Amino acid sequence: MKRIVSLTVNGREHEDAIDDNMLLIDYLRDVRHLTGTKKGCDGGECGACTVLVDDKPRLSCLTLAATVDGSKMETIEGQAKQGSLSALQRSFHENLGTQCGFCTPGMILAAESLLRKNVDPSDEEIREALGGNLCRCTGYVKIIESVRRAAEVVS
Ligand code: FES
Ligand code: FES
Repeated sequence: MKRIVSLTVNGREHEDAIDDNMLLIDYLRDVRHLTGTKKGCDGGECGACTVLVDDKPRLSCLTLAATVDGSKMETIEGQAKQGSLSALQRSFHENLGTQCGFCTPGMILAAESLLRKNVDPSDEEIREALGGNLCRCTGYVKIIESVRRAAEVVS
């Protein structure tokens, strides 16, 4: 069955007719064409599909789009403002927190949620916030460093 949902995605309001059982990741990628949100395990294990829903990280592969009707959504495409990378995007780039980049959108959104609540997180708090996000390339040291350096810029 179809239903109309109203979602604000990266600051823009949208109304779309979607299937009741459409996953949020499919809505973002296939309906909104925001392919920065990655489908890794497709089963809640890797964090690659993390987006922000009302400022909180959410696994879009485990979320039905209809259940977030009326919410404010953010994807990696919405992080740069007026052509300038966010502090986290710049820090991941400068501190080599990205290699193949597949996990990076989810990492950055999970970290963004943390820094909005806590501008001076400890390494332990960063690790905990990113605990559900897997990276098969970097070994995490550079990722933690990237978040720490971004926190120094925003605090
Ligand atoms: S694709 Fe959603 S957790 Fe892996
Ligand atoms: S940079 Fe390749 S999976 Fe993390």
